[in-house]
Amino acid sequence: MTRYTPTAIALHWLTVLAMAFVFGLGLSLAWLNPPASVKPAMFVSHEWIGVVILGLALARLVWRRRHPPPPPLPGPSWQHRVAETVHIAIYTLLLVVPICGYVASTALGYPVVWLGILPLPDFGKNEPLGWQALWVHRRLAWLLGGLIGMHVGAALFHHLIQRDETLVRMVPWLKPLKR
Ligand code: HEM
Repeated sequence: MTRYTPTAIALHWLTVLAMAFVFGLGLSLAWLNPPASVKPAMFVSHEWIGVVILGLALARLVWRRRHPPPPPLPGPSWQHRVAETVHIAIYTLLLVVPICGYVASTALGYPVVWLGILPLPDFGKNEPLGWQALWVHRRLAWLLGGLIGMHVGAALFHHLIQRDETLVRMVPWLKPLKR
């Protein structure tokens, strides 16, 4: 069996970790109306972790060009086409969603400060642009969440039902289930 490279695997699971934080913070900010004392810290963290996700996505794409993923496992060609389309869509959204969030924040007058320490480039206030970017950021974040849901469902289907090596190629300590 050919696996993903250790670097590709590490970048994949770091993305998952960062996405868990960024979604958790984003949804809590939108729905839970957190107390004013913690809200700014939650916003700042949501933003700089979003920038980390953008960096991880770029790093993954560069790595992938030099180290192509293992060839697809045997299976119907429609499944391979769907998986490839979903992967391309996820990569695209991993770039576009943080960029829209960044534009929204700076254009609405909240410069992004990485790790709460390092101020990142600020292109100036432009409220109409900021609201539009925020609208797109929210919609595309939901689309990304939906695609990730499909992606996780497919990975679990392969592992638990089809009992093939799809998930094992991305989780080195896992063994395929007995058929
Ligand atoms: C934030 C969540 C996630 C994102 C953004 C994400 C993204 C991606 C992307 C873009 C790929 C394609 C890698 C490439 O070929 O370059 C991939 C592969 C893969 N992911 Fe995820 N993933 C996430 C969560 C998960 C989870 C939770 C699982 C397991 C339950 C999982 C299992 C897999 C597997 C098995 C592959 C390899 C598929 C194959 O070999 O065809 N992913 N993931």
